[in-house]
Formats: sequence, C-alpha cells, structure tokens
Amino acid sequence: MHSIQFALDEESLTGTTVTVAGWVRTFRNDRFIALNDGSTIRNLQCVIDQKEVDAATRARFTTGASVQCTGELIASQGSGQRVEMKVTSVEVLGDSPADKYPIQPKKHSLEFLRQHAHLRFRTNTYSAVFRIRHQVSFGIHEYFDMHGYNYFHAPIITASDAEGAGEMFRVSVLDPKDPPLNDAGGVDFKEDFFGAESRLTVSGQLQAETAALALGKVYTFGPTFRAENSNTTRHLAEFWMIEPEAAFMDLKGDMDLAEGLCKHLIMRVLNNSMDDLRFLDARLAEEEKAKPQDQRSEMGLIERLKFVLENPFERITYDEAITILLRSKPYQKKKFQFPVEWGVDLQSEHERYLVEKHFKKPVIVTGYPAKIKAFYMRTNAPGDFGYSDKGKTVAAMDVLFPGIGEIIGGSQREERLDVLEARMKEMGVDAEELWWYLDTRKYGTVPHAGFGLGLERFVLFVTGMGNIRDVIPFPRTPGSAEF
Ligand code: 4AD
Ligand code: MG
Repeated sequence: MHSIQFALDEESLTGTTVTVAGWVRTFRNDRFIALNDGSTIRNLQCVIDQKEVDAATRARFTTGASVQCTGELIASQGSGQRVEMKVTSVEVLGDSPADKYPIQPKKHSLEFLRQHAHLRFRTNTYSAVFRIRHQVSFGIHEYFDMHGYNYFHAPIITASDAEGAGEMFRVSVLDPKDPPLNDAGGVDFKEDFFGAESRLTVSGQLQAETAALALGKVYTFGPTFRAENSNTTRHLAEFWMIEPEAAFMDLKGDMDLAEGLCKHLIMRVLNNSMDDLRFLDARLAEEEKAKPQDQRSEMGLIERLKFVLENPFERITYDEAITILLRSKPYQKKKFQFPVEWGVDLQSEHERYLVEKHFKKPVIVTGYPAKIKAFYMRTNAPGDFGYSDKGKTVAAMDVLFPGIGEIIGGSQREERLDVLEARMKEMGVDAEELWWYLDTRKYGTVPHAGFGLGLERFVLFVTGMGNIRDVIPFPRTPGSAEF
C-alpha cells in the first residue's frame, strides 16, 4: 500500500497498479471518489467503472467512509492533479452513514468543528494545521540538536512555582471532602501522595537550569499547565512549551538563539509544507475579505513568513517601547484600553502596535521593570543592555510577533547568589523550598540564559489561524476539558 502523497508525486508509479486507502471526501457522478488519507491535503481521484461495482456498494461511498482502492495510476484527464486511479477493485472498510456523519463536504464554522474536535482532523483546514504542527515540533528538535543542545525531560509534577504567579493546578490523592488536617487546621499535605503540596508544572525552567549547569546546553519540550482564568484566543490551560537553557550565554546570545530558532522553523515549514501553506494562505485571504479595510493585514500568509525569515528582528529596550507607545496615535487618541507609563506591563494591544504598526516586523523587547518580571531574571546595572535610570530593570527579553504579541519570554538568569536571595525575599519567593535551585549558585555558578517558546502561539503564526483552540488537538480551557 502507498500513501496518497507518494501515489500522486512519484512519477515512476504512473502506469503501475497500486493500492491506497483513506476516507471518502466526495463521491461525484456515481464515478469519482475523492480519497484522502491525511498524508497530503491533496485528494487522489479514484475512478470507478460502474459495470464493475454494483449499485449497493456505490451507495456506501459516502463522505467519511473508509475505503481501499487498487488500480492503475494513469495521467489525469481532469485539471488539478497529475494522475488519477483507474480502480480495478475497491473495498469499503468502514461505513459512514450520510444522514449522521457531521462533517459534510461544505464549509463548517470553526466553532462547529471545535464541538466535533475528534473528527475535525478530517477537514482540510485542521489536517493542514496538524501536519504543520508536526513540522514545527520536529524542527525544534532538529534545531537544538544541530546546535549541541540535549533534550531534557523536566518533571510535570512539581512542588515549586517557577513563575511565582500562583497559577497552578493541584495534584492530590486526598479526599477533597474529608482531607486530613494539620495542627493549625489546614490540609495536612504530609499525608498526601508526595508528602508535600504538589502541582502541575508551569515551566520546566528551574530544573533545566540545574541541567544546563552541568550539560552546558539543554532544552525541554513538554506540556505545561496554567490555571489562569484567561479566556482569550491566545491562552490555554494546557499548552506545550520549549525551554532552552545554556551556560555561559548572555542576553545577546539568548536573543540570537531565539531569532535563529524562529527562522529555522519558518524555513522548515516553507520547505516541507507548501501544499498546506497554499491552502491556509487562500483560507486566510478569504477571511480577511470579511474584515473592514483598515483591519486587513498587508501581507498574505506565505508572504508574511518569507518576510519574517528574511528580515532581522528589531531589538529595542522597554524604555524605548514606552517612548514609542506614548508618542503613538492610538495613545494620543486614547484608543488603548490599558494604561501606558513606565513600570506597567505591556499588554497585547501595545505589543501588537509595536510589531504591526510601528516596526512592521518581529520585535524583541529587553530590560523590563524588575517588579513585573519573575524572580530569577538578572538585575541590570549601569552599562548593561536594557538598564534604565527610571527604575530597576532586569535582563528579560520578550519576542513579539505580528498577529499574536508575545511568542517567547526569556532572560539572562541571576547567577549571583546574594542578589538572587535578596530578590527572592523582595518578591516573597520561598527560599527554603528552592534550596536545590540556590545550590546551583553556591557551587560553580556561571552566567546563563534561556527562554520559553509557546508552541501553540508559534503554530498560530505559521498557519495564520486566529484562535489557539484551533492549533492544539484537544484544547483545555476554563470550563472545558472535553474529549
Ligand atoms: O513568558 P512565560 O511565562 O515564561 C516562562 O515560563 C519562562 N520560565 C520561560 C523561560 O525563560 N524558560 O511563558 C513562555 C511562553 C510565552 O511567551 C507564551 O508563548 C507561552 O509560553 N505561554 C502560553 N501559551 C499558551 N497558553 C498560555 N496560557 C501561555 N502562557 C505562556
Ligand atoms: Mg511572558
């Protein structure tokens, strides 16, 4: 048996007899089966001889039915494909009752397809998205392997809150209705499975740092959980994060690594997924038509990917970002929903202004105020890139992308034990709980840096999809963990 992609593309197969299997997309004129097996967005046209296949069997070639066809690949009469199959034998593997199958050959809304998430992979849009998600995932391993990074598996269950944001899901085997209590009347987690309060990880960074200070270069790539109640098109409760961490790397090296990774992934998708990209490009163009003129993006999907690949990312400091925003038209006209002043976190509307309107390309912002960033980021001193006389800043860097905003968050880490301890105290981070993390600063500490890339946000960018629920197979969001 051959994949449909191979049958369509391998010229030496023309004139030979092959077998393929897949799911019926359409059956036209009682003769033409458009068959798709997921190996490519293209269908193989399988032409039935009505004399050879009885009417009862032909009635079973309904959309969604699985069939296996054997026949000769011949030059196609119709346009749009090089070859078609002259079917000599066909077998229905699984029926799909036409009156019940929800995915009909017509345009369904993404909303509707989300409610049929288990079947949506059978549509052109979602199959393209998930083939590209594979290309991106594989490209991540490829890039880091090429650069000498070791794939490091950080734990999923942890007792530490790496981001200090308190947005964690608890992992417990205690009876929620009748938990054991401690002397103070609180839940006694000593009695729990792990003997301590345990949660699902929000980041593998702290563990990755311990490994980087031995293996030199590592990266994690795994599921990440956040119990933040943000019902946006860019947030999931369960998402996949890639976190490289390298010893002897500073913030500049961190930015170079991040930009290099993004470009490698875009190049890989352009090289390997052109069929899918062309489909998604046309899909996006169709969607854009429905928008008012001033909200349409200037570039098509493929054009945008090439543009990002070919142009250096803009690198600015937080100070510069605030200055640009204060001078901007939307600020002057009070169009921003959130305030702009030195010290506030950049909201997605601000990020997107910088990227889409001001620079018109990806932007890396460094030197954020210390008080809006995590405890582990390195404190800037005069002379450091991103230092500000307006207040204490840290060697953070966020990579902002068009249509999305923040796609990567990272930093150089605070390697000086005394500075780190003071910062943790300032921010109320429990030093006792993180004794093992502090040990890395006690024994052979070195400058090091890393970042976290949100896989789904990146896949949103390369596919041109608008909602993060459409680029992960089974989205977990507030109020929803179906399938
Ligand atoms: O900026 P964040 O919170 O950084 C960290 O977790 C660091 N420990 C990373 C590091 O330095 N090793 O998250 C990193 C990225 C974000 O830029 C975003 O792309 C993604 O993870 N992300 C989410 N993606 C989907 N849903 C959510 N709720 C996300 N929260 C963060
Ligand atoms: Mg962040």
